[in-house]
Amino acid sequence: MDPSTGPSRDTWGSKVAFILAAAGSAIGLGNIWGFPTVAGQNGGAAFLLIYLGAVALIGAPVMLAELIVGRRTQRNPVGAFRALAPGKAWVIVGGLGVLTGIVILSFYSVIAGWTLAYIYKTLIGTFREGTDTAAIFSDLAGGAVPAISWHLLFMALTIWVVLGGVRDGIERWTKVLMPLLFVLLAALAVRAVTLSGADAGLTFYLKPDFSKVTGTVILSAIGQAFFSLSLGMGAMITYGSYVSKRDDLVSSAGWVTFADTTIAILAGLIIFPTLFHAGLEPGSGGPGMVFVVLTSLLSSIPPAPYGGVIFGTGFFMLLGIAALTSSVSLLEVVTSWAVDEHGMSRRKAAICFGGVAFVLGIPSALANGAVSWLTSLPGIGMDFLSFTFMLFGQYSLVIGALLISLFVGWVWGVRAAGEEVRENDGRFPLGRTWSFLIRFVAPSAIVAILVKMVADLI
Ligand code: PFF
Repeated sequence: MDPSTGPSRDTWGSKVAFILAAAGSAIGLGNIWGFPTVAGQNGGAAFLLIYLGAVALIGAPVMLAELIVGRRTQRNPVGAFRALAPGKAWVIVGGLGVLTGIVILSFYSVIAGWTLAYIYKTLIGTFREGTDTAAIFSDLAGGAVPAISWHLLFMALTIWVVLGGVRDGIERWTKVLMPLLFVLLAALAVRAVTLSGADAGLTFYLKPDFSKVTGTVILSAIGQAFFSLSLGMGAMITYGSYVSKRDDLVSSAGWVTFADTTIAILAGLIIFPTLFHAGLEPGSGGPGMVFVVLTSLLSSIPPAPYGGVIFGTGFFMLLGIAALTSSVSLLEVVTSWAVDEHGMSRRKAAICFGGVAFVLGIPSALANGAVSWLTSLPGIGMDFLSFTFMLFGQYSLVIGALLISLFVGWVWGVRAAGEEVRENDGRFPLGRTWSFLIRFVAPSAIVAILVKMVADLI
């Protein structure tokens, strides 16, 4: 099946299949690795509240806007802007999205590679009472050969799924596995909140201290919301382009947002109680924090050691698959651009750009101990992976989402967008609310926070 333009363009098998695939893109490392890491660095509960506000008021409307643009144009992000604003500079927004997609994929695959390694480690019973989980993480991520090899393996898997095309490649996986991930996370959360010392973790996560809120905290919350919901770089434009005109976009956007947010909240309920139980600092640990903390939970699951092996292996397998359904959407954006705009074959595009992302990811793979200047960038103090995540996984998405909301709200217009929503049954539930949010609330909130950030810097 070849999802190129024209009458034969691939579509999802059903509305449910689309919701699950879009949820598959949204739910991934961003929820389970990203959310607790960023929330831990930014004050816990206050961050959670701001995050929820950002999801409802900015994330959900931008999600709908992207889906509308995708379904209307049936194109990749570059082609979509070109179709709606021919001859205008807006096409650059699509181009920025494609570039951002490749860069995010580069470091995403490194972290997902760790996940694959952990499937193996949990299966052979590595994590027992008293295991030094931090040392195990640094052996893996700090060694050039294992870090790059697992990154390579994960990238190869991503390319393999994308080669299968939309329906056969992506849909099949998400239908069963996303619900299963939810069940497993809920079980782990129950174990985590009943650990001794869990209370302090719950307080940190659920009782806000607003003195900790700064411009950076708000920007991180907005950035995290976009990353987690796969917004700001055209992934949802691309996925929307495969949605049939019969389906209802508003409820689809709602379900995807709801599912993604629920999983992120659950991940916090697992990580923070365990973190405090183990006596660790929430803001410390960098990109490895979640791996170190999660595995320290495993040895507490009865009956030892089988409980930990079963839950651990199951968990990392599902996390690996959740990461795969997200990385596939990252590569799909680039692939659909190369296929639609440059007439490349799907096969050539996926292999070629997957390869580029692999090479770009090597510095991130070496940034966790293997190469010291990449582990702490001179003059910046952050590791290369975290720095790239901040620039492309947060700032670039925030800017992309700002431009998308301005485009849909003011340039192409909410009226035209509304017509597209009404294609199926003539209705647009919450249409007025959405117009208001996409025209006024989303852009002004993003601009305000960017101005504050720049002002803080000078
Ligand atoms: N939403 C994915 C996650 O939370 O892991 C990451 C991601 C996928 C971001 C696709 C952006 C994107 F376009």
